[in-house]
Amino acid sequence: MKELIEDLSILTVEQRQETPKITGVRSSGKPKKLYIESYGCQMNFSDSEIVASILQKEGFDTTSEITEADVVFLNTCSIREKAEQTVRNRLMHINGLKKHKPELMVGVLGCMAERLKAKFLEEEKIVDLVAGPDAYRDLPQLLAQVEEGDKAVNTFLSREETYADISPIRLNSNGVTAFISIMRGCDNMCSFCVVPFTRGRERSRDPKSIVAEAKDLFEKGYREITLLGQNVDSFKWSPDENNKARLEKTEVREVITFSQLLEKVANIHPDLRIRFSTSHPKDITDDVLHTMARYDNICKYIHLPVQSGNSNVLERMNRGYSREWYLEKINRIREILGIECGISSDMIAGFCGETEEEHQETVSLMDHVKYDFAYMFMYSERPGTLAEKKFKDDVPDAVKQRRLEKIIQKQNQHSLERYQRDIGKTYKVLIEGYSKRSDNFLQGRNSANKVIIFPKENKTKGQYVNVKVETCSKATLLGKII
Ligand code: SAH
Ligand code: SF4
Ligand code: F3S
Repeated sequence: MKELIEDLSILTVEQRQETPKITGVRSSGKPKKLYIESYGCQMNFSDSEIVASILQKEGFDTTSEITEADVVFLNTCSIREKAEQTVRNRLMHINGLKKHKPELMVGVLGCMAERLKAKFLEEEKIVDLVAGPDAYRDLPQLLAQVEEGDKAVNTFLSREETYADISPIRLNSNGVTAFISIMRGCDNMCSFCVVPFTRGRERSRDPKSIVAEAKDLFEKGYREITLLGQNVDSFKWSPDENNKARLEKTEVREVITFSQLLEKVANIHPDLRIRFSTSHPKDITDDVLHTMARYDNICKYIHLPVQSGNSNVLERMNRGYSREWYLEKINRIREILGIECGISSDMIAGFCGETEEEHQETVSLMDHVKYDFAYMFMYSERPGTLAEKKFKDDVPDAVKQRRLEKIIQKQNQHSLERYQRDIGKTYKVLIEGYSKRSDNFLQGRNSANKVIIFPKENKTKGQYVNVKVETCSKATLLGKII
């Protein structure tokens, strides 16, 4: 039963949390081969592209064949216990490979590396190298250490590192959509969450480097970028704050907020679509919503994780907003951006002390909002978090499962409703490539982030087309070009 429910949640989490992504081949004839598997959120996928770039300068090509690799990196996630278990199982498998190829170097990167630090080397004997999310510039030196027969660890967390000057090597790219990290870390301390411990303090990246990266992508043919951060609404950059330059006293201090950054990126070209993730209900402003309304090329879709529909639970979670505040934000979105704007959420079932009534409030909030889709999880206690210190993980597994099942069922119903209401409408779609099932069909997304599949005619990826929706399933729209 547990597996079944975890599977259901995997279906709903799409590729985001549990399924690893393996790098595509980027061969330029370099002698050494790097194989990276990424787990967890988009930030990790994006970081793997930075790692590939750093190691390319050291003579590494990436490979999608683990058996060809000289170096294997797992870029790991700690968000739930299951995410860590997946990595441990994977390491056991890699151990088998290493028996046949003793010179293979195995490294653990990302959040689990940061959380466990050197303990990893003791717990998992096959690991040679451990590097936290802010230590990737040190990878060449750490690998050199391993080559000399030592184990290597760097889990130093920085207050400044944003890798702003590193051009990521796009891995697994469709050549149309790409992610750009605009900030790192998180200062929010939601009580259930391990991220502030694994990613360190929040810091914003220099907007000039963000705009330059977006322009470069556009020139290379990309047509959609997603700006990434754990809480994009708290993006804030000034030369002063980030110690990037010393200002003369007379100079006006330039502080750039998220809505200003959005505007700068949207102004690059009307054919470049902009998305962003994740918005935080306590910080999203009307300014951001108005900016979205003003620009056709800023997609009308907001991922606004609620976590729970009950104010007491939200307080225990230390989320910084109540049910009423959240619903007011939903009202603002509907007023400024209308009913068409896509809204999605994350929800946790069975957080510490959650009563049946509190759980029912999550269900009733869902009925009120009617999300287009949602990522839903059972609460998993994480070592070192505020919740672990302050509260008992006292909701029995069977109850967590039942509540998760309930919210998944509710969400499926709402997704279907929200997709059905699109039948008969025409949307501008950016073509991302062939549909998974057939090369006679293309797929893309509308502004609200819904996937649409349609017969290809003479169109190809990277183009915009108008598609009239004819039918739908709970996760896809089907239509034809008009
Ligand atoms: N920064 C984002 C969330 C990043 S983590 C935000 O604030 O919304 C992605 C999601 O994982 C969270 O939204 C939450 O729903 C889930 N999550 C985080 N910690 C968890 C835990 N300990 N147990 C279960 N789910 C968790
Ligand atoms: Fe975790 Fe909260 Fe930060 Fe999101 S905002 S990463 S849930 S601490
Ligand atoms: Fe996981 Fe770290 Fe992202 S814990 S969800 S990979 S920030």
